[in-house]
Amino acid sequence: MLIAGNWKMNKSGSETAEFCSSLKRRVDALAGRVDISVFPPFTSLAAAVTGLADSEIAVGAQNVHWEREGAFTGEVSAPMLRELGVYAAIVGHSERRQYFGETDETTARRVAAALEAGLFVIACVGELETERDAEETEDVLRRQVSVLSEDDRLVVAYEPCWAIGTGRTATPDQAREAHALIKSLLDVPVLYGGSVTPGNAEELLGQEGVDGALVGGASLDLDSFAAICELAASSS
Ligand code: PGA
Repeated sequence: MLIAGNWKMNKSGSETAEFCSSLKRRVDALAGRVDISVFPPFTSLAAAVTGLADSEIAVGAQNVHWEREGAFTGEVSAPMLRELGVYAAIVGHSERRQYFGETDETTARRVAAALEAGLFVIACVGELETERDAEETEDVLRRQVSVLSEDDRLVVAYEPCWAIGTGRTATPDQAREAHALIKSLLDVPVLYGGSVTPGNAEELLGQEGVDGALVGGASLDLDSFAAICELAASSS
């Protein structure tokens, strides 16, 4: 099981240092039963890498560019992340797709470059509510997954867009179905994401084909995130 905390645009460097020192005290004993990682904003990565250096908790970034360097204002490359001690990156999150013009093509380029540079990658896929209503979920997932290639360091996160930050989650059936489809296309671990909380984690993590969770809001709170990690450790 893998539990990944996507902090989005939350926690400054000093907040990160404080959170990480408490987090490792709370969850390090779970090492071996669950893989735990946190994905702070770029400016807090160094604080997280330092704060978690003597723990089993890994640190990842929320995005990564496909070029190593160059005229790409606002972007950060995989070698830059690697030099910092970052081990992974989230790519193609629905907020990147929705607000910042990320496409299947740019997602594919970012994923390929990150893997090539030695990073682990969590590539996000998931349908909009209108697409689910129009019974297009399968087509959308097939299209989004089709640009990815199997890799030992690739993990896919299934995050139905209508479940992100909304308090609504996929039903166990919906999650199982989507995960089975993704796994039939690509033999990689698949995380569920979208309003995962300590209250629903056990049921979602217990579904066949669910290999862990990508947790947004609930990963910002120490008690909630630790509780989800504990549930994952006991369900694996
Ligand atoms: P949420 O976010 O848990 O706050 O719904 C999940 C995500 O966007 O990765």
